[in-house]
Amino acid sequence: MRIGIIGTGTIASAVVRGIAEDGHQITLSERSARHAYALAEEFDNVTVTSNQEVIDRSDIILVALMAEAAPNILRDLSFRTDQQVISLMGGASLADVAAIVAPAQASAIMLPFPGIASGGSRVLVQGDGDLVRSLATPANTVYMIENDSEMAAYISAQAVLSPVARLIEDTTAWLAARVTEPERGDGFLRHLVASSLAKTPAGIVVEALNTPGGFNQRLRQSLEESGMREALRDGLDGLEAKE
Ligand SMILES: NC(=O)c1ccc[n+]([C@@H]2O[C@H](COP(=O)([O-])OP(=O)(O)OC[C@H]3O[C@@H](n4cnc5c(N)ncnc54)[C@H](OP(=O)(O)O)[C@@H]3O)[C@@H](O)[C@H]2O)c1
Repeated sequence: MRIGIIGTGTIASAVVRGIAEDGHQITLSERSARHAYALAEEFDNVTVTSNQEVIDRSDIILVALMAEAAPNILRDLSFRTDQQVISLMGGASLADVAAIVAPAQASAIMLPFPGIASGGSRVLVQGDGDLVRSLATPANTVYMIENDSEMAAYISAQAVLSPVARLIEDTTAWLAARVTEPERGDGFLRHLVASSLAKTPAGIVVEALNTPGGFNQRLRQSLEESGMREALRDGLDGLEAKE
């Protein structure tokens, strides 16, 4: 496929790394010079050019700009009726994208995660699932999303990853100050959390770690008494409401 990418930042770079060996012809916008030229150096089938040339040379265009910046940037560019656009932008609905890429078709919203670079990642998709599957699978798993409100809820909920990572980071630092090989703590804790949750629903893990007076129960309850659950719900509600 001839694939063009407008906005070659963090997530688009991960996508390119994930699909570049599938034989596509990939064209990147030169604006994101650091990422774009590094990818062109890495893969023979990746080239770099102006935004308009990216569009002119492509049948499928991935837009990975910040949603707020996209209307101004795309307004100056010309799309064709035979092109399909996949938006990677969190916070722009399919209707929003359709309005700024006409006469091209806004085919899908695809929200990948950085793990797509090496495969084995989940990809949230609204719209033309088959088009996204042709790019992202079998290496990754597509999660189809029904409508705008479900997408907004998933986008808000996935943001739990950063606070979870912060909890592990702070616990690692706490542990490092107390043990003889501090560098082992991060790997130990990440493996503990990831392997415990990989195949078991979170509620069951909480129950299994609910021994009365046990360390897990005591730490969880002390965090809950400090308002952790209310703060989480307020934060998620705020993201969903775009506050
Ligand atoms: N990061 C994630 O994990 C993730 C996951 C799913 C979806 N997304 C979505 O993907 C989008 C991009 O996120 P990101 O984290 O990849 O951000 P990012 O690294 O800041 O990428 C945005 C890119 O847009 C480029 N850009 C700005 N103005 C441009 C223009 N006029 N023409 C062409 N390119 C231009 C920037 O180039 P310069 O560097 O030169 O300014 C930058 O490389 C967002 O809408 C986000 O919601 C992100």
